Amino acid sequence: MNNSSLPLFCALASATMLVATATPVLSQQSTTQVPQQTTTSTTSTTTQTIQPRVRATDLGVRGGAPGAGGPLTGLTDAESAYFAASTEAFTEVEDAAEGLGPRMNLDSCGGCHAFPAVGGSSPETNPQMGMATANDKMPSFISAHGPVREVRFVRNPDGTPDGGVHDLFTVTGREGADGCTLAQPDFETQVANHNVIFRIPTPVFGAGLIEQIPDSAIIANQAANTGRKVQLGIKGRVNFHLPGSTISGMTNNNGNDGTVARFGWKAQNKSLLLFAGEAYNVEMGVSNELFQSERDETASCQFKAVPNDFSHLDAAETFDAFSDTEKFALFMRFAAPPVPSSDTPSTLRGKATFTNVGCALCHTPSFTTGNTAVAALRNQPVNLYSDLLVHDMGPGLADGVSQGQAGPRDFRTAPLWGVGQRYYFLHDGRTNDLGQAIQAHQSGNVRFGNASEANGVILLYNLLPESQKQDLLNFLRSL
Ligand code: HEC
Ligand code: HEC
Repeated sequence: MNNSSLPLFCALASATMLVATATPVLSQQSTTQVPQQTTTSTTSTTTQTIQPRVRATDLGVRGGAPGAGGPLTGLTDAESAYFAASTEAFTEVEDAAEGLGPRMNLDSCGGCHAFPAVGGSSPETNPQMGMATANDKMPSFISAHGPVREVRFVRNPDGTPDGGVHDLFTVTGREGADGCTLAQPDFETQVANHNVIFRIPTPVFGAGLIEQIPDSAIIANQAANTGRKVQLGIKGRVNFHLPGSTISGMTNNNGNDGTVARFGWKAQNKSLLLFAGEAYNVEMGVSNELFQSERDETASCQFKAVPNDFSHLDAAETFDAFSDTEKFALFMRFAAPPVPSSDTPSTLRGKATFTNVGCALCHTPSFTTGNTAVAALRNQPVNLYSDLLVHDMGPGLADGVSQGQAGPRDFRTAPLWGVGQRYYFLHDGRTNDLGQAIQAHQSGNVRFGNASEANGVILLYNLLPESQKQDLLNFLRSL
C-alpha cells in the first residue's frame, strides 16, 4: 500500500466503519441494477449480500437527447433573443481576415466546446484533425479519436517556469493569409523532453450560475464537514486572484481584485467575460478589448487592425454593437445547466454512496446564487458537484504548472454536472472511462508530502462491493 501513513490508517479504519454504517441497505440490496451481470441471482430483495462476479463498468456516454445546449428558464424575451444570437457567434468559424491567428488551436469556440451540444466539451472525433495543411503538421499527441487538446510547456529552455499555451497551428497557407510564413513550435522535441502538458475543454453549460455563487458561500462550504475532511486528508483552498500572480510565469499582466477565481481546470479565471477574452486570443489568436495585444506580432502575418474584435459603437441594432467577446460571455452566462436523466433505484443508491464515501466532500452537490441582477440567475440552485476549490491531487495528476494560488499538483474540483454525456475526462483527457478517472485521483504519499487529498476517499471507494461501485458509476452517468 503506497499510501501508508498513520493518519491515513486511522482514516481508513474509521472510514471502513463509515462505509459499513452508512450503507445499511447493503445486506438486502438487489443486484438487478448491475448491467451485464451474468450471475443467476437476479431476484430482487435477497436477504444476503451478493457480490456480483462482474466488475463494475462505466457504461459510457449516456444516449438520448443532449441534456444541455438550451437557454436558462426564466430569461426575459430580450435575454432569450440575445442567447440565440450569441449562440451563433459562439459557433462562427473565423478566418485570417477576421483576425484568426497568426497562431491558433482551432477556428471557432463551438468547435472545441461541441459535445453533447454547443458549449460542451470535446466531441468524440477531434475537430483539430481538420486543421492540417501543407505547412502545419499534426502533432503526435493529437489523434482523430482522442480529445481536443491545448498544449502548455512546463518550462522555458532556460529552466524557468513557462506554463503558457503554445498554439498548434498557424495561418500560413490558409485563406487570406498570403505572405505570412510561420513555423509551428517543435512539438516533438518538447514531447521528447517531457515538457508538454495537455488541457481539454471544460463545458460552459450553467456557467452563468457558477459565476454568481457568492464568495462567502464558497468559503463557508470550505469550512463545512471539517472533521471528516481532516480525517480523510482533504484540505482545499480558494484560488484567489491576486495581483502578481501570472499565467506564463514570465510577465505580470493579469493582476486582479482579490476575489475568488473559479473557471478553468485550476480555477484560474474570475469571470466568463475574462475567459472569453482570453480564449479568443489564446485559442483562436483573435485580440480583443480585454486582451488587446496579438500573441504573435509578426508583421507579415497581421491581416486585421488590433484589437481584431471590438465594440461597434455606430451599429443600428443594439446587439450588433456588442463585441464578439461580449456575445460569447452572454451565450455562456445564459446557457442552461445540464439536465440529469431521471433517477433509477441504482442511481439513487449511487448518489447516497457518492456522499457516504466522501466524494461529496470535494464534489459539493449544490450551491445557491446570490441576489443577481439577471432574474433568471437570482437565488437559483447550482447543482454543479464542485466546491470550486483547488486541491492537491498528488503526482499522478500533477502537471507542473502554477496559475494564481494553484500550484503544480493542484486542480479545481471538476464540476460533475454533465459528465453523463462526456467522452473524455480529467484535465488532460487521459481517459474516457469514469472508473479510471476515479482511480487517477489516488497517488503520492503523506510521508513524501505529496499525497493526493483524495487518497482517503478512493481507498474507501475501493473497499465497496462491485455492485455499489456500479451504482456510483451509474449515478455519474445520470448527471
Ligand atoms: C482549441 C480548443 C478551444 C477553443 C477553440 C476554445 N476553447 Fe474554451 N476551453 C478549451 C480548453 C482546453 C479549456 C480549459 C482551459 C484551462 O483550464 O486551462 C477551455 C475552457 C473554457 C472555459 C472555462 C469553463 C469552466 O467552467 O472552466 C470557458 C468559459 C471557455 N473555454 C470559453 C471559450 C470561448 C468563449 C471560446 C471562443 C472564443 C473558446 N472557449 C474557445 C479549449 C478551447
Ligand atoms: C480531494 C477532492 C476530491 C475528492 C475526494 C474526489 N474528487 Fe473527483 N476530482 C477532484 C479534482 C480536483 C478533479 C480534477 C482532476 C484533474 O482533472 O486533474 C476531479 C475529477 C473528477 C472526475 C472527472 C471529471 C472531469 O470533468 O473530467 C470525476 C468523474 C470525479 N472526479 C469523480 C469523483 C468520485 C466518484 C469521487 C469519489 C469516489 C471523487 N471524484 C472524489 C477532486 C476530488
